[in-house]
Amino acid sequence: MNRTVIVGAGTAGVHAAMELRHRGYAGGVLLVGEENHEPYDRPPLSKEFLKPVAEPDTLRLLPAQIARDRGIDLRLGLLVTDIRATAQEVVLSDGSIVGYDHLVLATGARGRPLTVPGADLPGVWGLRRLEEAEALRKALDGADDVLIVGGGFIGLEVAAAVRARGTRVTVVEFLPRVMARVLSPQMARYFTQAHRHRGVEILIGTGVTAVIAGPLGTASAVVLSDGRTIPADVVVVGIGVQPVTELAERAGLHTTDGIVVDGRLRTSDPRIYAVGDCARFDCVVSGRDLRLESIQNAVDQARFVAGQIAAGHRPQADGDAQGSSYAALPWFWSEQYDMKLQIAGVASAEAESVVRGDSASGSFSVCRFQGERLVAVESVNRAKDHLAARKLLTADPARLRRVTRESVANGETALRALLDV
Ligand code: NAI
Repeated sequence: MNRTVIVGAGTAGVHAAMELRHRGYAGGVLLVGEENHEPYDRPPLSKEFLKPVAEPDTLRLLPAQIARDRGIDLRLGLLVTDIRATAQEVVLSDGSIVGYDHLVLATGARGRPLTVPGADLPGVWGLRRLEEAEALRKALDGADDVLIVGGGFIGLEVAAAVRARGTRVTVVEFLPRVMARVLSPQMARYFTQAHRHRGVEILIGTGVTAVIAGPLGTASAVVLSDGRTIPADVVVVGIGVQPVTELAERAGLHTTDGIVVDGRLRTSDPRIYAVGDCARFDCVVSGRDLRLESIQNAVDQARFVAGQIAAGHRPQADGDAQGSSYAALPWFWSEQYDMKLQIAGVASAEAESVVRGDSASGSFSVCRFQGERLVAVESVNRAKDHLAARKLLTADPARLRRVTRESVANGETALRALLDV
């Protein structure tokens, strides 16, 4: 029987399984998830889930009953421990061996650990999995001083959730600006000010050199790289992620900070695909070799691969002209207080910024240009710009050429209209 095995039951794995069925794939679908919970959505974990009273059932991604109804064999609390690529088999942690025609690696990423002295003390929390979010929510209930290491997505979303509880919070970011991986200096400054305005202390260009235990043996303070010691009974670590590639490495697949895939998301073994946070691919839209950590990327890559499999494309390594390359536009979002940040496209650090609209109004965008070309648009509370940007950035390059620094700077003209000139 034809069978697709999917390793990882996060967003990418679940969407791959669901899309296979949606496209009428008639073979077996085995979805293997390491965590014991039914597959859940991660985005709320750093947002509404941290409220004192979390809304029930906001996290369900694939209830077991739906998996059964769709003919998806969902196995939880289980690992794929080995891939026998030549035999086209996987070995599971319960000792069973399952053959596959197609294998999809959706192994995701894990939080980068903080490695300073005291980082393993009780009271120091990571935030990637549901049980970590549950534990952190409980810890926040009794917290006096929260210290967040890392001013990225986790750091700033958690800071907003902590302030909503009225608790003191400090964010320590060792780069010169927050969310530097994805944001322009202008937008980063706006978010820094917005957090400070709401009472968050943000320390830029600062690291943590140790976590200190109090009398109960739990975290009570941190030592900063500038020598200061500040109180912290809850320490949250959000210092980025590392792709989970060990399984792929053991199978001899090509990896470099991610599992390397080609334009059709096939690894160096054409019967094995990789999707989502763990996959390194040539991004057609940005012209760069990337690994993206976002829901959009996980969903779109999973759907693309499911489409390839369901269409029955022969998995040939070379000279396979069937089908087109993966070319979805990357986009991201974040929610902090009443600010909805949306980013379309990917800009490199040196891209120039053109501000559109008035930041004082709380609704504006920053358009990023690489040379004469618009490559990304960051918007805050300006959904129309974001939706238009998604159209602009995937438009025919000849039409996109009309979108200049001057034309986007006029916040009165709809971005969408620039294509119609
Ligand atoms: P991140 O990569 O977004 O941010 C990590 C931040 O920590 C960076 O600003 C980095 O400069 C800083 N940093 C690294 N080492 C440090 C150190 N030793 N001391 C101080 N600062 C340090 O990663 P983050 O926030 O941990 O998020 C983890 C993952 O979850 C990412 O893949 C992220 O994209 C994802 N996520 C996405 C959200 C969204 O899209 N809205 C929300 C929450 C998480």
